[in-house]
Amino acid sequence: MNHSPLVARRPALVVPAAGTPALTTVGTRLGRPLMTWHPAWVPVLEAFAAADPPQPRWESLEWYRNESFGAPPDETVDLDALPADVAAAVRAMGASLWQVRVVPDGGLAHLTGMTQPVGRHISALLAALKGAVVEASAHHTTGMKAPIGMGSGSEDGSFPLHADIFPGRYLLNVFHQPAPDQQGASLLMSVAEWGELAAVAFGPEWAARSLRLVRREVPWDMEAYEEVFGYHDRPDDSGLIAASDAAATRILYGPGEGYLVDDAEWLHGRTVVRKSEHTYDRVHRLTFDTAGSFAQRMALEDRPENTA
Ligand SMILES: [Fe+2]
Repeated sequence: MNHSPLVARRPALVVPAAGTPALTTVGTRLGRPLMTWHPAWVPVLEAFAAADPPQPRWESLEWYRNESFGAPPDETVDLDALPADVAAAVRAMGASLWQVRVVPDGGLAHLTGMTQPVGRHISALLAALKGAVVEASAHHTTGMKAPIGMGSGSEDGSFPLHADIFPGRYLLNVFHQPAPDQQGASLLMSVAEWGELAAVAFGPEWAARSLRLVRREVPWDMEAYEEVFGYHDRPDDSGLIAASDAAATRILYGPGEGYLVDDAEWLHGRTVVRKSEHTYDRVHRLTFDTAGSFAQRMALEDRPENTA
């Protein structure tokens, strides 16, 4: 059901974009798929921006508190603070994200034209969409809009390849104000390719165990994250970070560009970003589950051997 007068049906959130990719790549030529908003959602996005939505407010995710990082921040925009027709349309977008698969086979899509309809309100939009996904799913863990600051990654401002392993499986990153001087180029690598490099660095057993964790074939916790990626804050004498960073696809996404990945199939990272006044508006991130990925996660967590 869709009660919004702004959209008469429920199309996928993003669809393949027409034309030639116009993304700037560093070292590697960008391929497809290249996706953008489904045209049916553009009036909703324009109406959202015209409503001048509030800046997202930060909250602590107490349900996700852990010993390593505490309770991470999450950004929220109250849907009911929006005009009723806009709120209904955003709820329809969230229901689309929950029900209609958008991550293509292969687990990676590049995004373009994502900020044009909403401008500076992209952060508020993704925060509102987070709320809409959570409502559509009727479960609080299915969406997060966690701000990306400088408190993560390596001390120099880079972030080696990793999976986020948030509860939601899919990751949508939209660049708003990319850092200047080619800082913060995105690194992307398939989990399969990373596994081959990990086997060289740490041996086949470690690699196989890590691949099962990253692919979400076994339950995750923060200890598992540190087991696989925790080498960030220790001297890496295995050569894995250097080898994987050298082999990664490097893309300098421009404003309104970004990527949509299955976090279990693709690793992401970035080159160095020095702290600046734009750090927190550089890129905005929505993490979400679909009905399918949520069912998979619940099945994994419910297995008796996993809770013993
Ligand atoms: Fe990440």
